Amino acid sequence: MATLGLALVLAFGVLAVAPLWGLLGTGSAISHGDHGPAQVVEHDIDKLVQAQAQAYGDADGVVTPPPGATIHILVRQFGFVPSTIRLEKDVDYVLAFHAIDVIHGIALVMDAGIGTVLMPGATVAVPFRAAQEGLVEMLCTEYCGLGHHLMRGQILVRVSGRPEDHAGHH
Ligand code: CUA
Repeated sequence: MATLGLALVLAFGVLAVAPLWGLLGTGSAISHGDHGPAQVVEHDIDKLVQAQAQAYGDADGVVTPPPGATIHILVRQFGFVPSTIRLEKDVDYVLAFHAIDVIHGIALVMDAGIGTVLMPGATVAVPFRAAQEGLVEMLCTEYCGLGHHLMRGQILVRVSGRPEDHAGHH
C-alpha cells in the first residue's frame, strides 16, 4: 500500500455529484435532477456503457475511446464495465464512474493516483491524463461484499501511432 500512500489523492464528495450529470455527453439516457430508483439508473447506465462498447469496443472487449472522450464506467458488485480501457498518453479524457448498487471506492494506481468514494446511484467524473505509457490499475477501495477483491480493471496507456502536430499543443 506504499504506492497508494504516496499517491496524490483527490477526494470527491457526494455533493459534487449532481452537477456532474451534465457531463454525460448523450444526456438522453439520463434524467436530470432525480436519481430515481437504482434499477432505473442501472438500466440507463447499462445502455450508455453498451452503446460505448459498440462504438469503441474491440473484438477482445477492450474499449478504445477517441481522444477527449468521456468514458463511462459502470461500477457494481463486483467489477468495472468496461474492465479494460485503452487510452493515449498526454491526452485529456474524463472518466465518469457510475456506481449502481452499493458504495464502492475507486483508486487509479499509477505514479500519481486518484482516489474517490462512490455512493450508490452516484456518478463521479474525474479528468484523466496519463503522463507515461503503461498500465494504470483500477481498484475498488471500499469493502463492498464478498467479491470486493475481484473488482479490478485496467487502463492501458499507449503513445499515439500518429505523429503529433501543432494542434496537440493548444
Ligand atoms: Cu467495490 Cu469493493
